Amino acid sequence: MKIDILTLFPNMFDGVFNESIIKRAIDNGNVEINLINFRDYSLDPHNKVDDTPYGGGVGMVLTCQPIFDCVKAIRSNDAKVILLTPSGITYKQKKAYELAKEKHLIIICGHYEGFDERIKSICDMEISIGDYVLTGGEVPAMVLVDSITRLLPGVINEESHLEDSFNDNYLLDYPTYTKPRVFEGMEVPEVLISGDHKKIAQYRQEESLRITKENRPDLLDNK
Ligand code: ADE
Repeated sequence: MKIDILTLFPNMFDGVFNESIIKRAIDNGNVEINLINFRDYSLDPHNKVDDTPYGGGVGMVLTCQPIFDCVKAIRSNDAKVILLTPSGITYKQKKAYELAKEKHLIIICGHYEGFDERIKSICDMEISIGDYVLTGGEVPAMVLVDSITRLLPGVINEESHLEDSFNDNYLLDYPTYTKPRVFEGMEVPEVLISGDHKKIAQYRQEESLRITKENRPDLLDNK
């Protein structure tokens, strides 16, 4: 998969893409990630990419020209263009699975007060990572890339995401433990040491349900 990220702040991605699983996925050729500064496409003599809003208001608004020209230059027939904005649809694991099947993603990160509305005309979807406002789309872009990359074939052991929270099973993850058996007086539940696989499966199912009821009762609402 190829992922092009349009951003005014490409350096923000350094740490996240240069460590751990994402780095390995890039090195192994599972994913190609290009950071593109759309300021480079500005036709303004001072490389401006924003301007004041029509109708008045605070802050600056990203202009159409640099983003339109940048997308035109890199768009392939297969590309899906994603605009990151707090007013997009809320990002969920299901969308990560859908996007992981694509060949080419173009992710546009906003900054400042917002975008010229006409930028939406060249986008296939608008995504928000949650009901809070960030300083820009860079952190949301990292969230998308991370959640999608780990689902690409060969990146991590597939079994480990079949059991993820938010899959079709709609329950949150059950608790896990490792050695030692007792840490600061806290013991690993006896059932996990029993070797009885049926009992362990039942314990995990019950714990998943308990945690989901406690932390995310909304996930159970439609079930
Ligand atoms: N830009 C600013 N806040 C955002 C959010 N919550 N999701 C996506 N893009 C954003």
